[in-house]
Amino acid sequence: MLRRLLRTKEISHAAPSSLRQTLTGFDLTLMGIGAIIGAGVFVLTGVAAATKAGPAIVISYIFAGIASMFAALAYAELASSVGGTGSAYTFAYAALGEIVAWIIGWNLILEYAMSVATVAIGWSGYVVNLFDAAGIHLPEVITRTPFNGGIMNVLASGIIVLIAAILIIGMRHSARFNNIVVFIKLITVGVFIFVASFNVRIENWIPFMPFGWTGVMEGAGLVFFAYIGFDALSCAVEETINPKRNIPIGIIVSLAICTLIYIVVSGLLTGIAPYTTLDVRSPVADALLNLGYRFGAGIIAAGAIAGLTTVILVMYYGLTRICLAMGRDGLLPQSLEKINERTHTPVRSIMLTGLVIALISGFAPIDRAAELVNIGTLAAFAFVCMGVSVLRITHPDLHRPFKLPFNPLIPALGVISCVWLMTQLPFVTWMRFVIWSALGLVIYFCYGIKNSKLQKEIK
Ligand code: ALA
Repeated sequence: MLRRLLRTKEISHAAPSSLRQTLTGFDLTLMGIGAIIGAGVFVLTGVAAATKAGPAIVISYIFAGIASMFAALAYAELASSVGGTGSAYTFAYAALGEIVAWIIGWNLILEYAMSVATVAIGWSGYVVNLFDAAGIHLPEVITRTPFNGGIMNVLASGIIVLIAAILIIGMRHSARFNNIVVFIKLITVGVFIFVASFNVRIENWIPFMPFGWTGVMEGAGLVFFAYIGFDALSCAVEETINPKRNIPIGIIVSLAICTLIYIVVSGLLTGIAPYTTLDVRSPVADALLNLGYRFGAGIIAAGAIAGLTTVILVMYYGLTRICLAMGRDGLLPQSLEKINERTHTPVRSIMLTGLVIALISGFAPIDRAAELVNIGTLAAFAFVCMGVSVLRITHPDLHRPFKLPFNPLIPALGVISCVWLMTQLPFVTWMRFVIWSALGLVIYFCYGIKNSKLQKEIK
């Protein structure tokens, strides 16, 4: 059965894709950084330091980074050997079967859509601040949802529409846009590191671990959000030049750079401001403002807007490609797999998912949903790690241009660390995960199983 599953996947991936191969290793690395550095470091670091880990947030970042690196190695191996455009969904399909893949894909749809929607809301908050700083007060009816005293968050919906247009035009242009904005984001981070390193006060790091190890672990579960995004690169296999080499490079290099940045930034942030003052919407900019660096704070705010824009771009991109892969397999309506002949992009998938996300971000009260996003992603990471070891046994001859070292130790550590981070998440998050997965199973048995191409082939 497994052999048959993989064969089916290989056949579908060998079929000529009408997506266009334009992305280079450099583009992918910047796409990775574009997706990774965002609301996590610019917003959650402050909340997590103030309420969970204190200055030891830097250790939380190290733990979450190690778990992500195990998963990244697994993603790199499977992206280079199994391929496809559906990321963890496609890998789980090949290694663990259709129903596991469906549950992973179903959860990824929610994670990616919620990430994009919450980041769009964060983006609109920073833009409102920027206008305020320039003395222009945008009316609240167009910047807040009906739940927050407005009518519609037009800015949040607007950025989704704008990014949808960029994605429709094509990956070459999207990558170019991403590269420019990522440079702005990196300059911003550089400015923060430079200014902050002259203003550290050792007493801010004492006590270092005010909430003990429990706080450090819970902090790791929360700031894991900051690492999400490198996985979206594995959706780009069909749009990358020499993907077997470039996808592993993009995934591993971007994650390594971001891990280093997070450790430095979180250490400096808690060094320049007492951790108790960091539970605010824009902790990084505020910390500089409190030190009297008005201009520096302005640059950080502009960089955060740039940072959040690329997170929206790459996560939204990943969402459309996962829908495309699930449509191809017949588990979602097949119209989602249609590629526009002129732009070589899945226009329908982009427009449909964009419409849903624009409505959610315009009207729904989900400002803090980032905490809910982590669980499904961690589950996907654990399954991808498991998939590596399963495929090494069931398909030892599969061509693996990139092989993670020390199998099965690294995948096993990946599974353990991701599951362990899941256990640090609050009960409400687990409830969401269980309810959404159960709903997914109902849809699979009512729709997917009847329309699945694999099931039709088996019959
Ligand atoms: N890692 C992304 C962020 O922090 C999702 O915004």
